[in-house]
Amino acid sequence: MNDVTELLLRHRSVRSFKPDAVSDDMLETIVRCAQMASTSSNVQAYTVIAVTNPETKRALSVVAGNQRHVEQCPVLLVWCADLSRDRLACANEGVTMVSGTMENFIVATVDVALAAQNAAVAAESLGLGIVYIGGLRNDLREVTRLLNVPELVYPIFGMCLGYPEGPSGVRPRLPLRAVLHREAYDAGVYAAAVAEYDKTMREYYLERTKGKRDTTWSKEMADKFGRPARAYVRDYLEEQGFRFD
Ligand SMILES: Cc1cc2nc3c(=O)[nH]c(=O)nc-3n(C[C@H](O)[C@H](O)[C@H](O)COP(=O)(O)O)c2cc1C
Repeated sequence: MNDVTELLLRHRSVRSFKPDAVSDDMLETIVRCAQMASTSSNVQAYTVIAVTNPETKRALSVVAGNQRHVEQCPVLLVWCADLSRDRLACANEGVTMVSGTMENFIVATVDVALAAQNAAVAAESLGLGIVYIGGLRNDLREVTRLLNVPELVYPIFGMCLGYPEGPSGVRPRLPLRAVLHREAYDAGVYAAAVAEYDKTMREYYLERTKGKRDTTWSKEMADKFGRPARAYVRDYLEEQGFRFD
């Protein structure tokens, strides 16, 4: 173990923040760390929009299903996959970017996620807390309007940033053997590993909520994946110029 692995193993999402501002210096350090994430062929296909304006944060919290922490956090980072600068670079060379491919969509989406996670780790190492906000995808057209997001850019998630208020618990993960397979894929471990994790999570929720939340990981996944979610996203992405020919 070292300081970095200990920090990573202590991660927990923070959903309650002190009102203290995050300094520009800190924000810039965090985004510089994000920029140093590996990036496919150096495309750097992301932009992050730092939102501190209370009205904009309030509007974004409504989009996210009235998540209070989106309004309460001092800074909301909105992470966007962004091929628009790459298109400019192509144009500098007299080349028309072929952007309408699933591959380019994956490149941009992976790039922004890697950068964001570097930012998350940097923020936590500086004593800040974060929580990702996928809830922005409830209405990406509204996010696009509020933040003036251009073509070939799409906001993928927000990230609340600020000083944590009060403690929050570390959420247990699946047993290691469920996700670490050696030499070849091995689904044979799943039944027992998921049963074990269901038990762990049930106990975790019961304890955390003083008996009020009685659920398991399997129940949560059935709830999440048992119905279609945000079916409009494909049309929205096409409107933004991410075509899947
Ligand atoms: C892409 C993404 C979107 C998320 N969206 C939300 C969200 O909208 N609201 C929220 O409270 N947490 C959100 N989370 C946080 C997850 O619920 C959390 O990371 C997960 O349950 C594990 O808990 P932990 O981060 O405390 O370890 C999101 C996480 C990710 C990676």
